[in-house]
Amino acid sequence: LNYNVNRERRYILQVLFNGLRRLEYRGYDSAGISIDNSTSDPITCSCSSSSSSSQPLLNSLPLSPPPLVFRQEGNIESLVKSVYQEVATIDLNLEESFSIHAGIAHTGGPLTESQLHGIVIPKHQHFPFKANAVAHYIWISGAQPVTFSQVVLEVMRHLEGAYALIFKSRHYPNELIACKRGSPLLLGVKELNEDINSGSAFHDAKFLSMDGHSKELFLSSDANAIVEHTKRVLVIEDGEVVHLKDGSVSILKFDNDKGRHSGAHSRPSSVQRALSVLEMEVEQINKGNYEHYMQKEIHEQPESLTTTMRGRLIRGGSCKAKTVLLGGLKDHLKTIRRSRRIVFVGCGTSYNAALAARPILEELSGVPVTMEIASDLVDRQGPIYREDTAVFVSQSGETADTLLAFEYALENGALCVGITNTVSSAIARHTHCGVHINAGAEIGVASTKAYTSQIVVMAMLALAIGGDAISSQARREAIIDGLFDLPNRVREVLKLDHEMKDLAKLLMAEQSLLVFGRGYNYATALEGALKVKEVALMHSEGMLAGEMKHVAYSKQQSVIQQLHARKGRLIVMCSKGDAASVSPGESCRVIEVPQVEDCLQPVVNIVPLQLLAYHLTVLKGYNVDQPRNLAKSVTTQ
Ligand code: G6P
Repeated sequence: LNYNVNRERRYILQVLFNGLRRLEYRGYDSAGISIDNSTSDPITCSCSSSSSSSQPLLNSLPLSPPPLVFRQEGNIESLVKSVYQEVATIDLNLEESFSIHAGIAHTGGPLTESQLHGIVIPKHQHFPFKANAVAHYIWISGAQPVTFSQVVLEVMRHLEGAYALIFKSRHYPNELIACKRGSPLLLGVKELNEDINSGSAFHDAKFLSMDGHSKELFLSSDANAIVEHTKRVLVIEDGEVVHLKDGSVSILKFDNDKGRHSGAHSRPSSVQRALSVLEMEVEQINKGNYEHYMQKEIHEQPESLTTTMRGRLIRGGSCKAKTVLLGGLKDHLKTIRRSRRIVFVGCGTSYNAALAARPILEELSGVPVTMEIASDLVDRQGPIYREDTAVFVSQSGETADTLLAFEYALENGALCVGITNTVSSAIARHTHCGVHINAGAEIGVASTKAYTSQIVVMAMLALAIGGDAISSQARREAIIDGLFDLPNRVREVLKLDHEMKDLAKLLMAEQSLLVFGRGYNYATALEGALKVKEVALMHSEGMLAGEMKHVAYSKQQSVIQQLHARKGRLIVMCSKGDAASVSPGESCRVIEVPQVEDCLQPVVNIVPLQLLAYHLTVLKGYNVDQPRNLAKSVTTQ
């Protein structure tokens, strides 16, 4: 939304298209855009906002010309193409200038009614609207005197499920309203000539008094779409209604649950919020010299791991012990140590990372650790107690199932710890305490660097929890040394890139890839197979090697021998120097990886499998950054 800036239609389209491109990794089956039609129509809306007696009836408000709406199946570039084609046919002037303009763009799932914007369930069944029919409800309210915010508040009162919505109306031209529940939404504020790197946050009391100043305001579900314009953002909370009008911003807080359950119309109250400053750089969301985000993110793991550990590992002087400092947990460590159980909760890759860290957490803390896939915990309403510590692992911090599981654990009185890569995410904001993994923005749909950083954070969590036990001090110090050395070992394993590309060529025609692992590397097997499934679209299964014949083989080696005897085509990944003893014969391909401290081995071992999945996908000619039917974060239920 721009005010007093005089922007051409061409610029407005570009801003919206670029925003969509930044978000394409969140969904790429369809996209749509709506822009204002023309400045030539003299209609202005004069609806008053305060006294009810002067409020106009909705149906008596003048109507601005209908906005232009373009929708297109396929990726963003198909939308861009079709919009420019249509603009040419309807002879729309790209040079026309707007001093105030409000546009909306969206990218998402296939163009079917219910999938277009996620699923919002109306409370009263006699309002049979789906998500994209929310606007119809505004018409139903049209007999009463209303301001735009009142209309939206009324709509929100009747919505259930997770949503982030932006409203634009012909009755209220040049105004936008945003609201959310469950799904993320940010407001970005850019003043003209603003230095986007300026670090000073300012309070919204000042912000509200800036009426008339030239500025651009951005609303987005993801900071990536905003950061190239401004770093000053407001993270909108559930139940808030953000009203942008005449260059000013006002926020009303609506207690949605109260209103819904009592049936009463609870009064919204005006709230004051401070802006915060995004801690990310535009470069982070560019591909640099790489062809794909996934490739870039695999190769930047030595650096992302270093950032994850920065300032957190203390290798004291000669007489001082080596230790770990996790600022976000320090006031809660005692409670965690005393918990009856630690429950890891996550989905997909984040679940696998927790599984990789489980053994070291059990070993160092002495507390039983159980694993929960978020949706399954909620489906079962599995037992969670006050004496439990529930750890929520989520790269985005916004996965709907993980958030539901979090709410459930919170209601049951557990101490809730968040491990996320997104500083302002719901998990980061609402858990009792937590650790940021600081891996930097991850754009590739298949999670890679976030996975390795999550394991490292959870290894540090294990060290912090087990921090005062004398008996395990030597072990802890060996792990800390291993952590210091880890970025170099990952650098070393990345040299296998060419070898993994060769292997991918061999595997291209295969139907299926089974990945076996045990102990610390059970998670590696699951995660390696998940990567191949997610991006290379090839059947792949991760299996616990000990389950091969439902008997516990004492060594991975016996599984290798068995598979070889049954003519399985084998690829063995082993520590450097072990090739001769593990390989059953010449037909077996061996990948040697550097050996590290056992609990850190999953960080090293996943890298060749990430490379394999990447090369398989590129060789097959699939889009590695936009795999079919896969979203990076699933923020709708
Ligand atoms: C979806 C994605 C997975 C991801 C999972 C958890 O299932 O497709 O790739 O691992 O969500 O995402 P989160 O952001 O919570 O780590």
